[in-house]
This record gives sequence, structure tokens and C-alpha cells, in this order.
Amino acid sequence: MQIIDLTSHNGPAVRQAAELVAELIPPQQPIDEARANVQDCLAPGKVARMVMEDDTLVGWTGGREVYAGHLWELHPLVVRRERQRQGIGQALVADLEEHVRARGAHTVMVAADYEQGIDLYANVLEHLRGIKNVHAYQYEFYERCGYVIVGVRPDASGFSNIYMAKRIVPLTG
Ligand SMILES: CC(C)(COP(=O)(O)OP(=O)(O)OC[C@H]1O[C@@H](n2cnc3c(N)ncnc32)[C@H](O)[C@@H]1OP(=O)(O)O)[C@@H](O)C(=O)NCCC(=O)NCCS
Repeated sequence: MQIIDLTSHNGPAVRQAAELVAELIPPQQPIDEARANVQDCLAPGKVARMVMEDDTLVGWTGGREVYAGHLWELHPLVVRRERQRQGIGQALVADLEEHVRARGAHTVMVAADYEQGIDLYANVLEHLRGIKNVHAYQYEFYERCGYVIVGVRPDASGFSNIYMAKRIVPLTG
């Protein structure tokens, strides 16, 4: 599998990137909004990587620096539905980690959707501890990539967001 840069010069890839975002990333967004979000990911200083097979964009991911020299956020990440569960998501995450490590990052952070309709405020830490008991596949996916829960943003756009992070350089000292 070859993973390459997604750039604004590649019109067909950018169009498909927006279609995948509109179709597969919750909450559903109109295609114009998805297009604007993709353009935002292609701005200077950010990282966007994709898997292309012939003329088909199979999946892509993006990263932006949050704390210079320390922390990058991975967002979004999407794999075409019929190509999911074939290791492409994991490969895109590993590739992005490699890229941001080369730019000095120590940590990568992601936001994953957490189940709707749970009143987290009732007992935040207890709910997070029990997260394995609910259907939350994004959580399982990122856990498989080595990420752990480091925080939560309750009641975000119909879901809650859990924050997960991974240290991508060895701990020194
Ligand atoms: C999340 C997503 C990117 C994962 O990509 P993928 O290519 O299917 O993931 P992989 O094949 O690399 O999966 C690696 C592991 O993650 C876990 N996993 C992935 N998808 C899962 C699912 N739907 N349910 C449970 N576990 C899942 C599994 O442990 C899997 O290993 P396995 O297939 O050997 O059991 C993909 O499902 C997707 O595009 N979803 C829609 C968009 C989205 O939710 N993006 C994330 C937030 S921006």
C-alpha cells in the first residue's frame, strides 16, 4: 500500500476526500462544508496523507500542530466503506505519526465519538472506565493503534468526544 501526500493540486483526490468526509464522518455534513473542511486540512503547515488505488481515493487522514514541537492532532481519518477492516486505517495512522515525529511531535491526539445519550456528568470517570461495554468502534480502533483515553468533552454535537493520545517518541531521562 502506498501512502502519499494529499494536496490541493490533486483535484480528483480532493473531491473524493470531501465525499468520504460527507458520507462517513459523523455528524453528517453537507458536501460544501466537507469541501471547506478538506481545504482547511490542506493549508500550509498541516499534514494530509492518502491511499490512492488507480483513480480511487481509498482513505485519507490529516494532522495539525496544536502545541509547537510537542502535540499534533490527527483529524480526520476516513476509509472507504468497502475497504474498511483491511488495515488501511491503521496504516494511515502509523504513517501520520511518522510524519509528525519528523516534525518534532512527541504526542498525537485524536477525538473519538462516544455513545450518545449518556449523562457523563453523573459520574465522568466511572463512565469512561466502562467504555468497553458500549458500542464505540472508533475507541476500539484507536486503542488498537496504541492510543489511550486522556479526556472527554461531554455533549459535543450529539455525541460526547473522548480524547485519546499516544506518545510517539521514547520517554527519556
Ligand atoms: C475508523 C476507520 C478509519 C478505521 O479504518 P479501517 O481501515 O477500517 O481500520 P483497520 O482495518 O486498520 O482496523 C484496525 C483495527 O481497529 C478495530 N476496528 C476497526 N473498525 C472497527 C469496527 N467497525 N468495529 C470494531 N473494531 C474496529 C479492529 O480491532 C481492527 O482490527 P481487526 O479488523 O483485525 O479486528 C474506519 O472505520 C472509518 O473510516 N470509519 C468512518 C469514519 C470515522 O469514524 N473516522 C474516525 C473519526 S474522524
